[in-house]
Amino acid sequence: MSDKPFVAKLANVLPPDPVFEPGIRRAPDRGLNLSRKEIKQALKNALRYIPSELHTRVAPEFLSELKSMGRIYGYRWRPQGRLTGKPIDEYKGITQARAMQVMIDNNLDFDIALYPYELVTYGETGQVCQNWMQYRLIVQYLEAMTDHQTLVVSSGHPVGLFPSRPEAPRVISTNGLVIGKWDNPEDFKRLTALGVANYGQMTAGGWMYIGPQGIVHGTYITLLNAGRKYLGIPVDKDLGGVLYVSSGLGGMSGAQAKAVEIAGGIGIIAEVDYSRIKTRHSQGWVSRVSANLPEIFTWVDEARRSKQALSIAYHGNIVDLLDYCNRKDIKVELISDQTSCHAVYEGGYTPVGLSFEEGRKLLAGDPAEFKEKVDESLKKHFQIINSLTRKGAHFWDYGNSFMASVFDAGVHEIAKNPDNTNDGFIWPSYVEDIMGPMCFDYGYGPFRWICLSRKDADLRATDKAAAELIDPQRNSMDRDNHHWICSAEENALVVGTKARILYADEEGRVRIALKFNEMVRKGEIGPVMLGRDHHDVSGTDSPFRETANIYDGSNLMADMATQCFAGNVARGMTLVVLSNGGGVGIGRSVNGGNGIVLDGSAYMDEVVRKALSWDVMGGVARRAWARNTGAISTASQWNEKHSSEGAITIPEPADDEYLESLL
Ligand SMILES: NC(=O)c1ccc[n+]([C@@H]2O[C@H](COP(=O)([O-])OP(=O)(O)OC[C@H]3O[C@@H](n4cnc5c(N)ncnc54)[C@H](O)[C@@H]3O)[C@@H](O)[C@H]2O)c1
Repeated sequence: MSDKPFVAKLANVLPPDPVFEPGIRRAPDRGLNLSRKEIKQALKNALRYIPSELHTRVAPEFLSELKSMGRIYGYRWRPQGRLTGKPIDEYKGITQARAMQVMIDNNLDFDIALYPYELVTYGETGQVCQNWMQYRLIVQYLEAMTDHQTLVVSSGHPVGLFPSRPEAPRVISTNGLVIGKWDNPEDFKRLTALGVANYGQMTAGGWMYIGPQGIVHGTYITLLNAGRKYLGIPVDKDLGGVLYVSSGLGGMSGAQAKAVEIAGGIGIIAEVDYSRIKTRHSQGWVSRVSANLPEIFTWVDEARRSKQALSIAYHGNIVDLLDYCNRKDIKVELISDQTSCHAVYEGGYTPVGLSFEEGRKLLAGDPAEFKEKVDESLKKHFQIINSLTRKGAHFWDYGNSFMASVFDAGVHEIAKNPDNTNDGFIWPSYVEDIMGPMCFDYGYGPFRWICLSRKDADLRATDKAAAELIDPQRNSMDRDNHHWICSAEENALVVGTKARILYADEEGRVRIALKFNEMVRKGEIGPVMLGRDHHDVSGTDSPFRETANIYDGSNLMADMATQCFAGNVARGMTLVVLSNGGGVGIGRSVNGGNGIVLDGSAYMDEVVRKALSWDVMGGVARRAWARNTGAISTASQWNEKHSSEGAITIPEPADDEYLESLL
């Protein structure tokens, strides 16, 4: 253990004026909703990081940031130029702490992050931490940390390095855990402006974002299974000739075009922000671009005839695209939406009739008018989808709070019970119909790994090892997974660090992780960071999304995500995170994530066996207790295999008819 006392502190020297590179997307003004007293509080809060000699120089600058952006980001403390997740050897500190620095910088890479200057990784508002002063201190602590210390991060603020044990996590982090009474968007906005709350989304505040690849696999699985479930497509066939219409080519939504092509279908994805279309097109994630609807549908007709996979970016509003399909009676089989409705009034959804730029202007100048336009647009959006579904299209909510936002906009007929949303909505969420019953209940979820060396050869070696451990004959999930991992390299999905996503179950994750740790031990590859999306079996309680297929009333409880977090701490994962609101907006979910740094040690084998297993089975156990049949069979099989180590409580079935007669 280090014997020198160390307290992270910013230097007593003013960093140079910030330089904003042209062409890099910037966050909108979040709007200032603080009183005079609160503005003073916000300034004092930010100045806590700054040596007091610099306060008179810096305070006016912070005030101007607060007034122009609605937040204090401390741009001056951002390291100049582009941040990127460098090879792990280029960082300072112990291996686990260097791994964390790779992940943080990857989350802030110009190629990865949505608004890199504002520390937003994805999903309109999901931040790594609140400001650049916090970033600097986190880095200082990580560089100095020993393996007898744990860094505590609260809403991006590094509370400090505390004595701990080598077997404990190196970082325990929480984001935006507001007390219930104030757990609503309006108060949260105030708390973020004050500089005391961070909206971590999921893997933004969890430092585990790997670019849209992370979501391509999940979207590919969702689209294939939607085709199977709604259109009766056999398991050995793809989406040839099927049209999918949706919106968003942003952080996660940007995966849709690529995923629909891998699944063999035709996709038109509407996007109002041309800069995002440009990014996805230049990455090869979307094949064609047009703002001309007749031209787009000529391409669609050709692709239908030839059953060619095709993805098209429509530069325009999703409402206009759907309206065109509706008016022209164009056959659309599958519809969804991936605008950022979890932040619907903060710029996440551009109302129809306004260009992206006009929307941004209105939001900055007249947020009340912007809100009115959003509500009108959502109403129209709903009516058109309603009409298209009556004509045979299948719509599902993509976990972006679209249906909840439509309800909040005043369209109560979107809820099963028009009085409130407790009984859900008239259309399914993708978790309710697809991800939940087909994947999560069996323990399949978005396992991922990052080759910290940043070497292609390491990623190739891990892909190959994982493919050898998946038996495509075992079930349809493993069949899809095998196809996915075998074609992953050729699909050129990597942006940023050399990362891979793979939907695996408990057995699969443990087996693959042990193999990787052995490869590290033998020196075949460099260290590997294991992680997952928070959008998984156990990590997230979110009644409109991850736990949408929980029907015993416990979908409003956050016990599972909290237990998952605590259990992962107890079992020694390297990084453990718990956050409020991921994906669907503040107060609507509790979600957690994690990271395990495979350094080849025998101890990490132990962490994989215990922690990785718990990280999946805790959620399967809860899903089983909610009487989900897939989860009951998965938990029962686990009980048989692990009878000497543990036991999962299995529910007794109750006779529905008897209970009906009793009542
Ligand atoms: N992909 C997934 O599997 C998945 C899973 C769960 C939730 N989500 C949710 O999907 C949403 C999108 O996530 P993201 O990371 O891509 O966010 P993002 O903000 O990066 O992207 C959303 C995109 O929608 C565009 N947009 C907004 N309004 C539009 C409109 N009316 N017409 C056309 N385009 C419009 C925006 O310009 C933006 O590029 C979030 O709410 C997220 O939580 C996605």
